[in-house]
Amino acid sequence: MTEANGFQRFQGTEGYIASKPLIDAVNCAVALERPLLVKGEPGTGKTLLAQHVAAGLGMPMEHWHIKSTSKGAEGLYVYDTIQRLNDARFGEGDVKDIRHYIKYGPLGRVFAAAERHVLLIDEVDKADVEFPNDLLRELDEMRFTVMETGDEISAKERPVVIITSNNEKELPDAFLRRCVFHFIDFPEPDLMKEIVDVHHKNLDATLLDQVLIKFYWLRSQRELRKKPSTSELIDWIAVLLRSGVTNKQVEEHLPFIGTLLKNEQDTEALSQFEESDSKLPSSWSELGPRYQQ
Ligand SMILES: Nc1ncnc2c1ncn2[C@@H]1O[C@H](COP(=O)(O)OP(=O)(O)OP(=O)(O)O)[C@@H](O)[C@H]1O
Ligand SMILES: [Mg+2]
Repeated sequence: MTEANGFQRFQGTEGYIASKPLIDAVNCAVALERPLLVKGEPGTGKTLLAQHVAAGLGMPMEHWHIKSTSKGAEGLYVYDTIQRLNDARFGEGDVKDIRHYIKYGPLGRVFAAAERHVLLIDEVDKADVEFPNDLLRELDEMRFTVMETGDEISAKERPVVIITSNNEKELPDAFLRRCVFHFIDFPEPDLMKEIVDVHHKNLDATLLDQVLIKFYWLRSQRELRKKPSTSELIDWIAVLLRSGVTNKQVEEHLPFIGTLLKNEQDTEALSQFEESDSKLPSSWSELGPRYQQ
């Protein structure tokens, strides 16, 4: 992390391989103090990015995982009326002081913290369409009022906000206008080799090549319903290494396919392919001009 021209710069970390445009997008969001909206296929490192931005900038991170039932207001605070009622019934706690029953959510906690945080709002598209709209003002102004007490919580240090989406729902224009946007393109083989190296250090080069040829070939099959992604590739390599399969076996077959294909129609299509006399590709040139090395 460096601090040049007045703002902290993210330069990537050893555990996360970020392309130059992604690093630029992070730094643009940090400099503008605007949320960074990251989209991309599942398993392309959106969630992991936030953890590594926090590590790279030396900031603690708060992770707000969004569900279909999440409400914007819960990110700020909830007033625990049930606890207060119970305390009143059983004569416990200080029921006169409402502040004891105000529980901050992830946004509330990072605003109230003395230290600058990274706030990850993960999978924003899981919630209903009102969710992003409900947070517009708070994310802009980085402050809110606790209605029950009149307390105003204003961010001492504006958090670095990273929002991820898998594109399940469109986000409102007013929300998009306030964000810096980056789409994580699916990594090309060279970048993927670097990513694999983070997880499986010094993998045998021949095995890595065979694994990647098979992986990109699978992804290029049009009829595939669910393409395997980076996280599945990393799991696949882990199981290949643990089971001790030889390079030759990976050259000719696709062992442990359950780590790569997660849909019965896809596994069925592959077994039909293997049963016919068709040969799996074992060189980059067989994948077509896009993959010429
Ligand atoms: N650029 C990268 N550098 C290092 N590891 C990566 C990278 N991209 C993906 N990975 C690996 O893939 C895994 C999945 O990443 P992550 O969970 O961040 O994906 P995601 O985009 O958030 O997926 P989803 O949309 O399903 O939540 C990581 O745990 C890591 O092992
Ligand atoms: Mg994720």
